[in-house]
Amino acid sequence: MQIRDSVAIIVGGASGMARATAELLAEEGARVAIFDLASSKGEEVAGTLPGDAIFRAIDIMDYDGVGTAIEEVFGHYGALHIGVNLAGGQIGGPARTFSKKGPHDLDNFAKTLELNTVGSFNFLRLCAEQMAKNEPNDDAERGCVISTASIAAFEGQIGQVSYAAAKSAIAAMSFVAARDLGNIGIRVNAIAPSLFNTGLVQQAPQEMKDALVAGAAFPNRMGEPREYALLAKAIIENPMLNGGTIRLDAAQRFGPR
Ligand SMILES: NC(=O)c1ccc[n+]([C@@H]2O[C@H](COP(=O)([O-])OP(=O)(O)OC[C@H]3O[C@@H](n4cnc5c(N)ncnc54)[C@H](O)[C@@H]3O)[C@@H](O)[C@H]2O)c1
Repeated sequence: MQIRDSVAIIVGGASGMARATAELLAEEGARVAIFDLASSKGEEVAGTLPGDAIFRAIDIMDYDGVGTAIEEVFGHYGALHIGVNLAGGQIGGPARTFSKKGPHDLDNFAKTLELNTVGSFNFLRLCAEQMAKNEPNDDAERGCVISTASIAAFEGQIGQVSYAAAKSAIAAMSFVAARDLGNIGIRVNAIAPSLFNTGLVQQAPQEMKDALVAGAAFPNRMGEPREYALLAKAIIENPMLNGGTIRLDAAQRFGPR
């Protein structure tokens, strides 16, 4: 799918990997809508992008509100071709399935699934609803949706049981959703990053960062937000990439801790 003149929604676009993706797609000529929390710098970031980017304040866990905002983007630009969702994370601190403190908090487990799995699926299904209205391109393609998993989906560490469950559900969803949406020309993929230099990690001392990526084959450093954006661009542009969960990890495999 061609990026120039396409319409893209980037969830979480006020910072980190999502912001880098919004920037790259706008540089490449896409019309970008940043979705992020009202408390974020989304408005400011949208103002820095080339083109006619807009910001919509949403919470990915306000499932109806996300649907309304997606519809508004379609109404504003007259189409929707690309949806990239990076809102996610673990709710509650690290916790074992059972420990001296007792069994894992069930509410935190359920909320982590709501934020990552339900939030991603809701975004995917409601993007598909709007993308189905697009005129197909010469390759019969109408849209491309990218969700964000994690390598914790495959080798989650001790304390990450809720996050690993939520992210592996995202990985599993991509393939089935790609099958579901193939008849209308919508592709679905997920990106599974290792450790990326964003958020709180950015402020960590260099020795701590080095220790976290010691198991990577090469390069021995955290990923940079722009590297996520480059993979998103490759997925959007290559019609044969569909139904996959692509690791972006410098051959790192998490150990148990
Ligand atoms: N950084 C890493 O090392 C890493 C590794 C693997 C996977 N991930 C995944 O990447 C995504 C986060 O990317 P990042 O590290 O660039 O994060 P980040 O913290 O820099 O940015 C996340 C953005 O999402 C927004 N956001 C948070 N909760 C939201 C909600 N409920 N609704 C809407 N927006 C919300 C934030 O305001 C922020 O702008 C998450 O899904 C995370 O699980 C991150």
